[in-house]
Amino acid sequence: MSVAKRDLENRKVTTHRLVEMKKRGEKISMLTAYDYSMAKLIDQAGMDVILVGDSASNVMAGNVTTLPITLDQMIYHGKSVVKAVQRALVVVDLPFGTYQGNSKEALASAIRVMKETHTDCIKVEGGSEVRESIERILCAGIPVMGHLGLTPQSINKFGTYTVRAKEEEEAQKLIADAHMLEEIGCFGIVLEKIPAALATRVASELSIPMIGIGAGGGVDGQVLVMHDMLGLTQGFSPRFLRRYADLKEVITSAVQAYIEDVKREDFPNEKEQY
Ligand code: KIV
Repeated sequence: MSVAKRDLENRKVTTHRLVEMKKRGEKISMLTAYDYSMAKLIDQAGMDVILVGDSASNVMAGNVTTLPITLDQMIYHGKSVVKAVQRALVVVDLPFGTYQGNSKEALASAIRVMKETHTDCIKVEGGSEVRESIERILCAGIPVMGHLGLTPQSINKFGTYTVRAKEEEEAQKLIADAHMLEEIGCFGIVLEKIPAALATRVASELSIPMIGIGAGGGVDGQVLVMHDMLGLTQGFSPRFLRRYADLKEVITSAVQAYIEDVKREDFPNEKEQY
């Protein structure tokens, strides 16, 4: 690769660049991260987008849903990730209850996230129901990513984590919401757990990137939760999840080896002391 091409590749990823990537058919990679050390590894590996997802509520805090995580906690995770990242675009989720009430509150939440984490942009779940909030945030110059389909902050309304928008009425609403999000100025949308044909159709109708999770291969990019794809989560294996490592096994073996070494007084040895 020429130096000029490598310099171009290493440029900071911007929302504008994601739209360019869609235009030329280059798929967008996106993964969650919640802390400094992992975010640094993920960024250095070449990820395009790092999402400080409210899935931190599940995988970092051990909650059953994403609902309990607070704005202060998301800001803590966001700050840690932003400090580590040089190239990837960083997106921070606005947590449940910080933008649905009214647009003034939504803007205040988004401004706190921008000022305190120095993230590049934020993500919110929902369509027409939160239009006013998204418009107000966009008016303040804050880039917004949408999130449609299975929106985990509404799990109590849905009742289950099954595939969304299989019925015509819900599919039509999703299509209308996606067009609306593009029209008001969102730079991209996460499509979660919807039929692949529907996701492909939405991606082909819109010019902003659609990033799928459980939405098939016809979209403009893919996102996964880091703990799931690295094999750290237990008892969660939806069809869409590909595991790229078995870190549960790696970590368990390493920890057991350490325990054994301590017990049999093998650690520390003479070279490992002062
Ligand atoms: O919070 C999160 O991790 C997400 C992804 C599932 C897209 O929103």
